[in-house]
Amino acid sequence: MENFENKVVLVTGGGSGIGKATAAAFVASGAKVVITGRRKAVLEKTAQELGSQVHFIAADVCETGEPARIVEETIGKFGRLDVLVNNAGTGTMGPLSATSDTDIESTYRINVFAPLAFVREAIPHLATTKGAVVNISSVTARGTLPAVVAYASSKAAGEHAVRLLAAELGPMGIRVNAVAPGFTDTDALAYVKSNEEMMGMIVAQTPMGRLGKPEDIASAVLMLAGDRAAWVTGQSVQAGGGYML
Ligand SMILES: NC(=O)c1ccc[n+]([C@@H]2O[C@H](COP(=O)([O-])OP(=O)(O)OC[C@H]3O[C@@H](n4cnc5c(N)ncnc54)[C@H](OP(=O)(O)O)[C@@H]3O)[C@@H](O)[C@H]2O)c1
Repeated sequence: MENFENKVVLVTGGGSGIGKATAAAFVASGAKVVITGRRKAVLEKTAQELGSQVHFIAADVCETGEPARIVEETIGKFGRLDVLVNNAGTGTMGPLSATSDTDIESTYRINVFAPLAFVREAIPHLATTKGAVVNISSVTARGTLPAVVAYASSKAAGEHAVRLLAAELGPMGIRVNAVAPGFTDTDALAYVKSNEEMMGMIVAQTPMGRLGKPEDIASAVLMLAGDRAAWVTGQSVQAGGGYML
């Protein structure tokens, strides 16, 4: 198990799903963790569950200036930043013909703009700690499925940004990687879980024969954030039980 004692981790979207499991795994490994999201009540409940090592900041990370405010508050609260996990994400599903300009913009805002803005604001702090960034991508960044073009193309942009940032920030001692989950059992999957036929198809196409758990993704995040991955940068690691290889 990785050891993150005396380290400070910022997890966007840390109130629920994969972000919550990631925050919990970092706390269990000794870290102090800041979680963000828009729903204050959700964050409050998660912070209470995870204990005094966790601080929450309610904010919409898509709003200009909020990533800067969140990084600043993290430093104010805990004094340093070792790991940034860009997890907050969502997106419009559906064929392009049914995808509005607003859908495209909001999908790119959360999956491309916000992660880039967070990395930019975190650079001086991560350079000091020789820290790491882990972005939560998706297997759809590389594979193809019908009717996910806005979401999947935004995740693909995020994955290329990971490679570009690994090159740009490596000289400062900052590593940048991504974890690309397959179908994972969170609130975001409600639309799939309500469709038995779709669920059956997904599980049948997953060599490991089940949906992912948020904890499966958290484990991959900690692996990439930890010292044992000190020579790994610019990579996207699929964590999807073999789905869409
Ligand atoms: N579940 C899957 O099958 C799957 C597969 C591939 C990739 N992923 C990726 O995994 C990541 C986590 O998703 P999840 O499955 O764990 O779903 P989730 O539970 O819905 O988590 C998404 C989190 O992002 C936060 N968020 C969304 N928009 C935000 C905004 N504008 N500002 C601040 N926070 C925002 C949400 O909090 P608020 O609503 O309170 O703001 C929520 O906590 C996402 O990047 C997603 O694309 C998931």
